[in-house]
Amino acid sequence: MAAPIRRIGMLTSGGDAPGLNAVIRAVVKTAEIEYGWKVIGIEDGFEGLLTPPHIRNMGVEDVRGILSRGGTILGTTNKGHFRTIDVGGRPQRDPAPYKELAQNMRRMGLDALVIIGGEGSQGIASELAKFGVRAVGVPKTIDNDLYGSDRTFGFDTALTVATEALDRLHTTAASHDRVMVLEVMGRDAGWIALHSGLGGGADIILIPEIPFSIEAVASKVMSRDFQGSNFSIIVCAEGALEKGGQQIYQSSTGTLGGIGSYVATEVARRTGKDSRVVVLGHLQRGGEPTPYDRILATRFGAAAVRELAEGRYGEVVVLRGGIITTIPMAECAGKVKTVPIDDEMVRTARGLGISFGDEDLTEMLPEALAELEAIANDLQADDDPSED
Ligand code: F6P
Repeated sequence: MAAPIRRIGMLTSGGDAPGLNAVIRAVVKTAEIEYGWKVIGIEDGFEGLLTPPHIRNMGVEDVRGILSRGGTILGTTNKGHFRTIDVGGRPQRDPAPYKELAQNMRRMGLDALVIIGGEGSQGIASELAKFGVRAVGVPKTIDNDLYGSDRTFGFDTALTVATEALDRLHTTAASHDRVMVLEVMGRDAGWIALHSGLGGGADIILIPEIPFSIEAVASKVMSRDFQGSNFSIIVCAEGALEKGGQQIYQSSTGTLGGIGSYVATEVARRTGKDSRVVVLGHLQRGGEPTPYDRILATRFGAAAVRELAEGRYGEVVVLRGGIITTIPMAECAGKVKTVPIDDEMVRTARGLGISFGDEDLTEMLPEALAELEAIANDLQADDDPSED
């Protein structure tokens, strides 16, 4: 029989998400109050368990007042020794840090780990099992794209920030008859763009799952003008891409971003309308979690401790149909829950006249198409040196 648990470690890994501190608090309180265990906080993700370890004792008194605080009091890292490296097109892991971590855990008398992180972190956790590390995962990502869970904490906060931004952009867009493009997070999945687009009344929603054509986007904007709405709101996931195109990366940082600016520039050029872009970026990840995220994070943290107490390792706690349950770590590692293109919310949005930029141009207002063509002809004439 496996040794009973008396002392557990806990770490936060990957990009932060509002609600991490609520999980930390729930883990510490449940472990101490319900089971009488000691909790050791590991700093800066898995890195904190390498030599020399960065750890601290965590009791109920150490988690006072953190329920509503953004970020993570333990610190986090998403670029460390544990990530996979590409060797000849195949992802591989260096076993050395895994061995070192397992050894340090034994030295410190840690019986198990609670790993709060996204799919990459759950992949690391699942690999650690091969080195004898017992762990339970808590899923985290503001993108809501963790495979196997209906929701992840942080998403509701991000969505709230994005929706508020859309509300604010509406009034200024309407005052100036402008096109406003809001670029939100969402590398592989457009959940934030889709939900905030519906909640914030966007006219066009661009997501990675539905590649768009810039002609369709411009046509929708122009059609709205002809129908008497002289402004348009576009919400665009950072991972959105044109049909046949690729995601856009910023050359300065090598990180995803710039699609909003591309859309604003192209729409302005094709429609002649004043267009602006707002990149919401990390504002979506910072600050206080919403009540929904605090509650979900608390339920996840408490459930993770119960899993360990019941001797179920290698599982990730998830939310399914309103119930907290678990799935094997290996099942969600490396997988992304994308927006199904026939999702009920996509269908609802289309029914409301919201464009995803993939519509057939023949469905657009003929007057709008004629106007776009006239603008294109003017532009071509301006560019043609034989016209000088
Ligand atoms: O948490 C996921 C995410 O929000 C992605 O949408 C985004 O691309 C990424 O984090 C950016 O994170 P960072 O700037 O920390 O690398």
